Amino acid sequence: MTELTNVTEAKAIKVPTLPDAQTVTSVTHWTDRLFSFRVTRPASLRFRSGEFVMIGLMGEPHPGTGKVKPLLRAYSIASPSWDEELEFYSIKVQDGPLTSRLQHIQPGDEIILRPKPVGTLVHDALLPGKRLWFFATGTGFAPFASLLREPQTYEDYDEIVITHTCREAGELTYGAELIESLKGDELLNEVIGEGFWKKIKYYPTTTREESAKMGRITDLMRSGEAFADLGVAPLSPETDRAMICGNLAFNLELKEMLEGYGLVEGANSNPQHYVVEKAFLD
Ligand SMILES: Cc1cc2nc3c(=O)[nH]c(=O)nc-3n(C[C@H](O)[C@H](O)[C@H](O)COP(=O)(O)OP(=O)(O)OC[C@H]3O[C@@H](n4cnc5c(N)ncnc54)[C@H](O)[C@@H]3O)c2cc1C
Ligand SMILES: NC(=O)c1ccc[n+]([C@@H]2O[C@H](COP(=O)([O-])OP(=O)(O)OC[C@H]3O[C@@H](n4cnc5c(N)ncnc54)[C@H](OP(=O)(O)O)[C@@H]3O)[C@@H](O)[C@H]2O)c1
Repeated sequence: MTELTNVTEAKAIKVPTLPDAQTVTSVTHWTDRLFSFRVTRPASLRFRSGEFVMIGLMGEPHPGTGKVKPLLRAYSIASPSWDEELEFYSIKVQDGPLTSRLQHIQPGDEIILRPKPVGTLVHDALLPGKRLWFFATGTGFAPFASLLREPQTYEDYDEIVITHTCREAGELTYGAELIESLKGDELLNEVIGEGFWKKIKYYPTTTREESAKMGRITDLMRSGEAFADLGVAPLSPETDRAMICGNLAFNLELKEMLEGYGLVEGANSNPQHYVVEKAFLD
C-alpha cells in the first residue's frame, strides 16, 4: 500500500531535468524564419522591461568524454516585467547551433533559463523626455515588445514612435499584431487610461518585398520622408529619447545619425538621450 502511494506521488511531481529548467507553455510560428514562445517564469526572477537573459538547451554529448554542457544564447525578454510568464521572439537559423533545435520546441518541453537579466535598453538609462523612439530591424523588435507593454513607457512619454524595418512583409506580423493587441490591454487601459494607445506611432517598412512603406528607416529619415509620414519633427536632444536594436550595420548607421541630431549615448550608469543593443552578434 505504502509502495503504491509513493509511485503515484512520484508521477505527480514533475522533476526538472535541466539546470534552471523552465517549461514551454506555448509556441507560435510566424514565418519559416521566425517564431515566438512563452515559458514559465521563475518565482525569484525580477527584471526591467527591455533586458535580456541567457537561454538555451543542453548541447550534444562531447564525442570523447560523453559530457553534455548547456548551449546558451542571449535573448531579449519580449514580455513586460509584470507578466506571469516570459515570452521570447526568435530567429530560426537553419544551421545555428541553438535555433536549429530550439525551433522544434513544443508546449511541455523544458528550456534552460539563466536568471541573470542585464541590458541597456531600459528606461533607467535615459534622461526624461517627451517623445520616445524605438528603432528595430528583424528580431530587434523583441525588447520593444516588452517596453510597449510596460506602463512606465506611457507614464514617462507623451508620444512613442516605433519603427521596424524587415526584408519581407511577413516578418512584421508579430510586431503588428502585438501593437494592435495593445488597444485591448487591460492593465494599460486601467493604469494609463482608455485611449493610451493613441500615443503610439507605428512605422513598419520592408526592403525586399512590396508593402505599404518600402525602404530602410535610415534612408527614409535622411530624406525627411519618415518625419513627414509620421507628422513629427526630426529628433532633438531637448525632446527626443531613443532606443536602437538591430543588426550591427544598422546600429552603427543610426547611432551616427542620432549623434548628428545632437543626441548623446547613455548607459545604466550614465543616463543620456539614446541607448543601443545588438539584436545578434555578426
Ligand atoms: C544582446 C543580445 C540579445 C539577443 N536577443 C535575441 C532575441 O531576442 N531573439 C533572437 O532570435 N536572437 C537574439 N539574439 C541572438 C541570439 O543570441 C542567437 O545568436 C540566435 O538565437 C541564434 O543562435 P544559434 O546558436 O542558432 O546561431 P548563432 O551561431 O548564434 O548565429 C549564427 C548566425 O545567425 C545569424 N543570426 C543570429 N541571431 C540572429 C537574429 N536574431 N536575427 C537574424 N540573424 C541572426 C547571425 O548571422 C549569426 O552569425 C540576441 C543576441 C544578443 C547579443
Ligand atoms: N530575412 C530573410 O529572409 C533571410 C533569408 C535567409 C538568410 N538571411 C540571413 O539572416 C541574417 C539576418 O537577416 P535579417 O533579415 O533577419 O536581418 P538583416 O539582414 O539584418 O536585415 C533586416 C532589415 O534591416 C535592414 N538593414 C540592414 N542594414 C541596415 C542599415 N545599415 N541601415 C538600415 N537598415 C538596414 C535590411 O535592409 P536591406 O534588405 O536593404 O539589407 C532589412 O530590411 C543575414 O545574415 C541574412 O543573410 C535572411
